[in-house]
Amino acid sequence: MPAVKKPRLASRLLMWYRKHQRTLPWRGHRSEYAVWVSEIMLQQTRVETVIPYFKKWMKQFPTARALAKASEREVLNAWEGLGYYSRARNFHKAAQIVVEKYDGKLPREMDELQKLPGIGRYTAGALASILFGMDEPALDGNLKRVYARLFDVKLPVNSAKGEKILWELARANLPKGKAADFNQALMDLGALVCVPKNPRCEICPLAGDCLARKRGTQNLRPVKIVKKVMPHHVHAAAVVVKRIGNSLYVLLAKRPSRGLLAGMWEFPNARVAGEAAGEAASAVGAAYRLTLRAKRGVHPLTTVEHAYSHFRVTVYAFRCEVSSKEMNGNLKWVSLKKLDEYPMGKVDRQIANKL
Ligand code: ADE
Repeated sequence: MPAVKKPRLASRLLMWYRKHQRTLPWRGHRSEYAVWVSEIMLQQTRVETVIPYFKKWMKQFPTARALAKASEREVLNAWEGLGYYSRARNFHKAAQIVVEKYDGKLPREMDELQKLPGIGRYTAGALASILFGMDEPALDGNLKRVYARLFDVKLPVNSAKGEKILWELARANLPKGKAADFNQALMDLGALVCVPKNPRCEICPLAGDCLARKRGTQNLRPVKIVKKVMPHHVHAAAVVVKRIGNSLYVLLAKRPSRGLLAGMWEFPNARVAGEAAGEAASAVGAAYRLTLRAKRGVHPLTTVEHAYSHFRVTVYAFRCEVSSKEMNGNLKWVSLKKLDEYPMGKVDRQIANKL
């Protein structure tokens, strides 16, 4: 399919945007860093979820310099709950590079932007168009859906060929000098009108331009290659507590510095073979009675289900009380009062909230 330009599309969309654009805290913000924060947070998270995090983040780390100076623990803590924590770690690294190499300002070139950790083609296009007025498309999942419908693209949007044609369409239809508003107008159209299920074509400013609407295929677009069923893992987590004076301490372990939830804190846990809680209990019970000589019994505390992007997990958490001081490298006794200061994934925070 050759990339086609629809002649009136941009003007119709921009007219709609003037009236219907969402008021968002980063729109028209004076600082380019604020827009950068928003685009990183919005990569895999919905606008409504991002808004409170954005506001809090801007108070805690108001500039790229402030972010660069912060510790990894502070950064992960502020990100806690947004998921996909590599975004926070990459953003932290990118802020340090930008401060060191570019005096705290983002580079103006697309390829320099894309060399920064956590900035891919979409985010570079969004930053270049919104901040610097550059004629660059920015295609995220929402925009791919809009273009797949406007041009009734049958190729899967998550295939290399589908991606290629969609980027070409986005570039061909970009109005010169107006990419900032045009890209954001498409984002708002995707969020408010051209929604994934049952799009609201009756109020769409582009209904007359839309090939899927004309053919009645809007609910069949975009086409996606269905991914394999997600694996399910079962884990047992040990909530090992110790009383010192009037305070309770709980044993946390720091995750490795690479991979899932890198550098965050968790309750020591292990994958168990079966799906049965009993099996999980005996595995973790045995492990922690051995290593920590639990004085009293091991009791079920809670069960947490969570879906990551590529697997599901069920975590059976057990509580036991110990008196031993033994431990090794990545383990730490943490006062219950200070648990909030230790960044954790959603599963472990749910367990912590039961204490
Ligand atoms: N999603 C990603 N970037 C966005 C932006 N700047 N405005 C609205 N939604 C977005």
